[in-house]
Amino acid sequence: MATLDFEIRPNPAPVAATQRAALLADPGFGRVFTDHMATIRYSDAKGWYDARIEPFGPISLSPATAGLHYAQEIFEGLKAYHAPDGGVTMFRPEANARRMQITCDRMAMPRLPEEAFLTAVRLLVERDREWIPTQDGGSLYIRPFMFATEVFLGVKPSSEYLFCVIASPAGSYFAGGVHPVDVWVSAEYTRAAPGGTGAAKCAGNYAASLAAQAEAIEAGCDQVVFLDAVERRYVDELGGMNVFSVYGEGDDVTLVTPPLAGTILPGITRDSVLSIATDRGWRVEERPYALSEWQADAESGRLRESFACGTAAVVTPIGRIRGADLDFTIGGGVEGPVTRRLRETLLGIQHGELPDPHGWVHRLL
Ligand code: PLP
Ligand code: COI
Repeated sequence: MATLDFEIRPNPAPVAATQRAALLADPGFGRVFTDHMATIRYSDAKGWYDARIEPFGPISLSPATAGLHYAQEIFEGLKAYHAPDGGVTMFRPEANARRMQITCDRMAMPRLPEEAFLTAVRLLVERDREWIPTQDGGSLYIRPFMFATEVFLGVKPSSEYLFCVIASPAGSYFAGGVHPVDVWVSAEYTRAAPGGTGAAKCAGNYAASLAAQAEAIEAGCDQVVFLDAVERRYVDELGGMNVFSVYGEGDDVTLVTPPLAGTILPGITRDSVLSIATDRGWRVEERPYALSEWQADAESGRLRESFACGTAAVVTPIGRIRGADLDFTIGGGVEGPVTRRLRETLLGIQHGELPDPHGWVHRLL
């Protein structure tokens, strides 16, 4: 495909600098948006066309738009950061571009070329760089997404799509900053069955998780833990994060995380944590991890730490696990040293404060 040229339509009424500064002081997660968005359209007849950077704003849709009915809708999440020298970086954006292509395959959607994804994200971040928070732990959360726009109620892959990228300054995903979170094991609901869409980042997975997440919140927990859909024995992942358990201490550490067997999202943070751990000489095991093993090892004290990880959550300690007939604490409910070290290493690489031996940091400006 020929390279797409992006038409630039600057926002004629961007947010004033003083208001932007006020919004950036405590952005939370996902409520504040920058002045622009990137859009690219697709049709079976034309391929990818009409690439633009344009003012952030409403999208007008027919009520018969296919994506509103049958959920051909997928998304990604990645972050941009201020580098210590005043530059701007992104973390592993090509991994998000590739994962979106794999999600496209599963959802019978056309693959957006990696270069178009990367250019859209780069142009948006460059234009809205003033929106990247400068405070500790701050970043610009970038949300690429794509949905079916054909106006047709027949159930089939749409012949038209809109790809869009928006950006949102972000602080901590969990209110109150980094602290051990309580998680709720759902006995009733599962997230993904073999052959389903668990490994794809499609909107429907999140819609299906919300009743379980509501149950977790109702019980006073922060996130839901899903078990495998077949035996309801093994830990799959959280509603929006992968999960790890940490055995041993000092140099003798083993990380255990569920395998990429088709029902969990192949997290880019998960992959990065596995590499950082291996670099340090720690052992990593990607294997089925039973809830009973999690509980027995936490109760015996053999297991000292568990954590959740993802772009939004970074590396967040898990303090307590609860469920209908279940209540156990990990490592006294406080963050352990391995979790802290992994988070600090990952954030250090992402913010350009530590060496980047794998070439994960993508320099923009
Ligand atoms: N699992 C689920 C269900 C998610 O939504 C996410 C977030 O994107 C992750 C895991 C972590 O993936 P990543 O590290 O690529 O953000
Ligand atoms: C992310 O970490 O990027 C996610 O997508 C998780 C959640 C916000 C859905």
